[in-house]
Amino acid sequence: IAEGTDLKAEIRRMCEEKNAVIMAHYYTQGEIQNIADFIGDSLALARKAAETDARIIVMCGVHFMAETCKILSPEKLVLVPDLNAGCSLADSCKAADLKKYKDEHPGYKVVSYVNTTAAVKALTDVVVTSGNARQIVDTFPKDEKIIFGPDYNLGSYINSVTGRNMLLWNGGCHVHERFSVSEIMRLKENHPSAKILAHPECKGPVLAVADVVGSTAVLLKYAVESSDNEFIVATEAGILHEMTRKCPDKRFIPVPPEISEGWASCSCNECEYMKMNTLEKIYNTLKYEWPSVDVDKDIAEDAVKPIKKMLELS
Ligand code: 13P
Ligand code: SF4
Repeated sequence: IAEGTDLKAEIRRMCEEKNAVIMAHYYTQGEIQNIADFIGDSLALARKAAETDARIIVMCGVHFMAETCKILSPEKLVLVPDLNAGCSLADSCKAADLKKYKDEHPGYKVVSYVNTTAAVKALTDVVVTSGNARQIVDTFPKDEKIIFGPDYNLGSYINSVTGRNMLLWNGGCHVHERFSVSEIMRLKENHPSAKILAHPECKGPVLAVADVVGSTAVLLKYAVESSDNEFIVATEAGILHEMTRKCPDKRFIPVPPEISEGWASCSCNECEYMKMNTLEKIYNTLKYEWPSVDVDKDIAEDAVKPIKKMLELS
């Protein structure tokens, strides 16, 4: 990239020239959210991918989000700034392992969180996000036998609010699992009137002390509409960018995770995969129209059904 290049201006110019849109998740860096055509949670990004008539989608998020985009819009070129931007949660469920588990549990429906590979979605009856999981699980008869995966904490939370007993996959997100009740309570001592907002990927005890549990979009909406002025936020810290932009007069306090040896020097409430997206990489991705994300045709054919079912049901 030539010295002095105005990256933001060039990115926007290439978007016009190439009929491209930039979609970004709330966890990406603020400067990326600022230049994006659309920002949202996983559900909103999936919806938008199904609707847009652009030729190119640049998905600034993680790999499964780009796969979902490609599955919903196979005719489009889906680009990602960095192919290494994966997801520890998606990695915690391999398709071969899920297939084996399904075979061991005949008669069970499979409900999969959107944070999964296309191959796992292809083995799934209906996909959910943290924004619609409860609503979609509620559409099944009360006695339906369900395998829910891969996020154990989300599954356990949905079991508790729906009174179900779904079989849970033992997967998790390395960022959300670090948040602890003791750190939240330490912040609460200094901010007694603050409302606690938590993403359902956090562990059960954290969710038990939260005032609101929901997807990034749900937490954001609550903060915008609430008459409260202070919020303790237990999710990836990138969401604070949009919370602060939408509510400049409110105070958002990120939860630092429980610091243990080895974590002391890292930004432990950040997802390093989301942070792999940079303006420089977006510039190059648009310029060279590379790297793109493709999904095997047979897998995509099976994976599109549970994703479309989710979009219909929510
Ligand atoms: P949302 O669907 O709430 O945006 O969450 C996505 C995610 O990766 C959470 O870690
Ligand atoms: Fe995956 Fe966790 Fe990063 Fe979300 S925060 S993309 S679940 S690793």
